[in-house]
Amino acid sequence: MPSSPLSVLPATAATPGTSGDPTWWRQAAVYQIYPRSFYDANADGLGDIRGITAKVPYLKELGVDAVWLSPFYPSELADGGYDVADYRNVDPRLGTLEDFDEMAASLHGGGMKLIVDIVPNHSSDQHAWFQEALAAEPGSPARARYIFRDGQGTNGELPPSDWTSIFGGPAWTQVPDGQWYLHLFASEQPDFNWDNREIRDDFLRTLRFWSDRGVDGFRIDVAHALMKDLSEPLPSQAELERLEKLHNGTNPLWDRDDVHGIYAEWRTLFNEYNPPRTAVAEAWVDPTRRARYASPAGLGQAFNFDLLMADFDAASFEGIVTKNLAEAQATGASSTWVFSNHDVVRHATRYGLPRLVAGADCGADPDDGITQDGISQDGKAWLLAGGPEAELDRELGLRRARAATLFMLGLPGSAYLYQGEELGLHEVADIPAAERQDPTFFRNAGVEVGRDGCRVPLPWTPARPAFGFGDVQAHLPQPEWFAGAAASAQDTDPVSTLNLYRKALGLRRSLQSGETLEWVPNANPTVLHFVRPNGWTVVTNFGDADADLPEGAVVLASVPLEDGLLPAAATAWLVQP
Ligand code: NOJ
Repeated sequence: MPSSPLSVLPATAATPGTSGDPTWWRQAAVYQIYPRSFYDANADGLGDIRGITAKVPYLKELGVDAVWLSPFYPSELADGGYDVADYRNVDPRLGTLEDFDEMAASLHGGGMKLIVDIVPNHSSDQHAWFQEALAAEPGSPARARYIFRDGQGTNGELPPSDWTSIFGGPAWTQVPDGQWYLHLFASEQPDFNWDNREIRDDFLRTLRFWSDRGVDGFRIDVAHALMKDLSEPLPSQAELERLEKLHNGTNPLWDRDDVHGIYAEWRTLFNEYNPPRTAVAEAWVDPTRRARYASPAGLGQAFNFDLLMADFDAASFEGIVTKNLAEAQATGASSTWVFSNHDVVRHATRYGLPRLVAGADCGADPDDGITQDGISQDGKAWLLAGGPEAELDRELGLRRARAATLFMLGLPGSAYLYQGEELGLHEVADIPAAERQDPTFFRNAGVEVGRDGCRVPLPWTPARPAFGFGDVQAHLPQPEWFAGAAASAQDTDPVSTLNLYRKALGLRRSLQSGETLEWVPNANPTVLHFVRPNGWTVVTNFGDADADLPEGAVVLASVPLEDGLLPAAATAWLVQP
């Protein structure tokens, strides 16, 4: 695995298909694809790269500006692909590099950008470097690429500390010669040692590899974990948890100030391209620390999960939007908005559960609203109870989700959408234990069910065996109710969720204007009303009763209006004649 030093070349000519406005990302609608569950083109039950290419016309018609692919690299799938065995290749079960190039060309030909996921905190234990480390002596250069330590106790039989992994269970695993390695996630995901120059150079090589192949941007997995202070004595888990609340950049494991040195180097590389490659940090940090990741001198954008963690509530939404827009303006980044992804209970379901508590529905620490795993707490509790149908108001959840999505798509900044939300999909709750795949389930049986319920392969048609996902049964079981939610069933229904997304994304493109909004005060505390610089007006009714609409022509509404009024749990877009 040779490393290549960062070359400092002048900006290159634009890679074919990636030219264009260097600010394309600032207000982009980005569609997240979880490749193994999107579309299976080769009838093996697993979604693949050719499957994505086959659906480019669908994505184009949907009207998204960019596609973000969750990991598609070779992987043993101990964590759904976030355990990468080779950073510069495609999982042979998903295709080849040639398939990837064809997909990239097809997306670019359809006017869409391509973002790929980079997982720099840890590799798979099947990665050649970790296998080399296992075969090597303690203290060897091969072990220095990861974080190996001797254990405690007379014979080193105890782990170096009592730290627990994010997925549960101990954060250290012992190898046959007695040493222990650190893994903040599953034991199949050993953490890299980012103090080692070889790791830094290898990731620069990976970023260059995909940038040269025409990738337009990167989503950086657990961007806040790379740098660690492992000087001894190691603090206890209790001390770690205390330090985590300080948010001052000195926590031994998370959100350390020195992580930004890595991203400054990445930014130099990104800016060698024309247009510069973009990046968005997945960093579950205190909101006061987010700007560092989003800085133009660093990754440029960072996910803000605040709306995702909030209840469907006017005051919460207003506060979050105001704060984040001010933050983005101060740093030069653009805001990001998201309600659903592959780690959380789908928002149609969250909004249909009875026990939503503001700030606590996403694994959030009620003290500071952050989480390291991003799995919905309320959703988790409901899933653990077997997903009782009686507790879920499917209709209300979807109605609120449609309203929330139109609210989000009206905001300045980029909107991240997760595959299947355009079909109004709910979480799949009833996956039998024997068919679950998420490591959180295996490391916490009986305490957590995991994230498989939002990763079930998409329904494209109402027909079995796989609802059009492929010709054979899908790798996770699909429920009967998928038939009614299938894309083909929604295609010609003018009021379907699919057509709402299509209309919204199309209009959003034509209405998009400057990166600001103005709140318009109104007497009803359950209604939010804002206006973009060109007069594009968004009104959301979070309450239970009909609400008045302001002057203007309604161009879109999440549900039909009633006598010119905006019904409960609904959003309307208006323009000024
Ligand atoms: C965050 C990813 O979104 C999640 O799916 C993954 O399990 C962890 N990072 C570990 O890579």
